[in-house]
Amino acid sequence: MNYRHSYHAGNFADVFKHIVLVALLKSFLKKDNSFCYLETHAGAGVYDLNSESAQKTKEFESGIGKIISPSLRGCEAAAAIQNAGYVNEVVNDYLSCIKKINTDASKNYPGSPYFAKYFLRQNDRAILAELHEEEYAALKKFFARDKQIAVHHQDGYLALKAFLPPKEKRGLILIDPPYEQHDEFETLTKILPHAVQRFETGVFALWYPIKDRQSTDRFLKNLQAKISRPVLISELIIHPNYLPSHLNGSGMLIVNPPWQIEDKINEITSWLATSLRAR
Ligand SMILES: C[S@@+](CC[C@H](N)C(=O)[O-])C[C@H]1O[C@@H](n2cnc3c(N)ncnc32)[C@H](O)[C@@H]1O
Repeated sequence: MNYRHSYHAGNFADVFKHIVLVALLKSFLKKDNSFCYLETHAGAGVYDLNSESAQKTKEFESGIGKIISPSLRGCEAAAAIQNAGYVNEVVNDYLSCIKKINTDASKNYPGSPYFAKYFLRQNDRAILAELHEEEYAALKKFFARDKQIAVHHQDGYLALKAFLPPKEKRGLILIDPPYEQHDEFETLTKILPHAVQRFETGVFALWYPIKDRQSTDRFLKNLQAKISRPVLISELIIHPNYLPSHLNGSGMLIVNPPWQIEDKINEITSWLATSLRAR
């Protein structure tokens, strides 16, 4: 496993994924019943944008850097967050979460577990799986004193078997693999339909990279053919000309999409496309 998310934290794909995640989490708060958040590939929980890895790629500059303020190099000043254009309450909450993790002069970008934690109520809980030794250690340390969050040094796909269905009968599952393996699309086409069968009413959100349009479409078609529940596909395309060997877009496949979420995500996606496409 060579993938380290610190090289990519806060890039355009992360921004899209995390705003959609916030929209999903908010939809779970509409009912009083508790819910379980399960994440299969959780990462380290928080990323320092001043770190050597983040500074090496500077991917965050064309992601969160463009949203907070085009002139900023990162999450520099919490005040600047206030200047980001208002789109809807989902984006506001996403920005508030980033602000919360940058109370001092830090330049941190939250990982998905942090966004999840931000929205958990007292009776909700989270289960996080991460396989990389160091990422797991960082995540475990980050949530060390948090009784609502269980961190497991475990293969994320096995976690789907181990923890589904949750006892709450309400759950959001984020699947965010690094796509390091050349057969990750095939693996997901086998594993996700089984997970949905185990927990038919669960809301599953799968992030996928959009490089080559044809292979992405083939993957989505094969996967949807095996899932008997409603599916929503949402994509943010940054390079509409589909540059060869580039990350041209970021996609989320959502099984059992919550009511009215499609309109909300569409609104966000068109705003993001305008804000993040290369200028
Ligand atoms: C894209 S990153 C996750 C980022 C995180 N979800 C976020 O948005 O902040 C993918 C993570 O999966 C981890 N990973 C790779 N293979 C895994 C596996 N089989 N099971 C669990 N985690 C794995 C990597 O170490 C990496 O931290």
